[in-house]
Amino acid sequence: MIIFKEPASLATFLNEKRRLQKSLGFVPTMGALHAGHLLLINESRAGNDLVVASIFVNPTQFNDAKDFQKYPKTIEKDVYALEKAGCDGLLLPDVEGMYPDGTGNGQVYDLGSLETKLEGFYRPGHFQGVCRVVHRLLDIVQPDRIYLGQKDFQQCMVIKRLISIIGSEAKVVVCPTLRDADGLAMSSRNMRLNPDQRLTATGIYEALDEVRQNQHTKQVQELEASAVSSLTARGFRVDYVKIVDASNLEPVAQISSGKKMVALAAAYLDDIRLIDNIFLN
Ligand code: PAF
Repeated sequence: MIIFKEPASLATFLNEKRRLQKSLGFVPTMGALHAGHLLLINESRAGNDLVVASIFVNPTQFNDAKDFQKYPKTIEKDVYALEKAGCDGLLLPDVEGMYPDGTGNGQVYDLGSLETKLEGFYRPGHFQGVCRVVHRLLDIVQPDRIYLGQKDFQQCMVIKRLISIIGSEAKVVVCPTLRDADGLAMSSRNMRLNPDQRLTATGIYEALDEVRQNQHTKQVQELEASAVSSLTARGFRVDYVKIVDASNLEPVAQISSGKKMVALAAAYLDDIRLIDNIFLN
């Protein structure tokens, strides 16, 4: 695996490969890699001639400065894991390399209601920051396919929208959420949980699973309210538990088999914010 610190050197390397008609899969990450990321690398490996990953903890997408400072960093382990998984290239830039004009004002992306719902509402500015960095990464890498995890359900929708705004050719491949044996969705932020919090954290999956199990016997509001109560009782500070139309995140009045629906949750244990989602019907 070749490590590129300079975006321009990676772009030059990839231009050469493109001339040889190599297809390119791209896995953007913020590091602190886990098996969920490696699944993305494996899928990318299976679907393309070349796989490139990036590790960059993007300052512009953190609406909470402490969350940014405390974001886990395990760079040596990450490099080893990527190499072992058969990744061909890794972009490991610094802030100046990614934002040569500074992290201040940048392009504003029209994300419509994606920006005001759920994650957009609770993390103002977050998706603009995601778009800024992913736009830059797509310009540098110009992949045929970009691999994203379903755990970040709304982010996948935002990146699809970004791709249509900027007219990129990249196809989005969404891969399933990987879970620990007790159901907790794999996430880099799980590394920050202490042993007690780690035991409690599974509650977020259990609350969503209960929604799934009771979807045919209870009303939507009742399902959402009982998930919030069960999380609160376990010590979570809940941002939301919502059942929505999976195609546009609009709230639904009742669960019907005609529409794909998803239950999404975001909640804190201390200052660690966890998100998860599961498909219903
Ligand atoms: O999901 C992430 O790790 C980040 O939001 C991404 C897509 C790498 C952009 O910084």
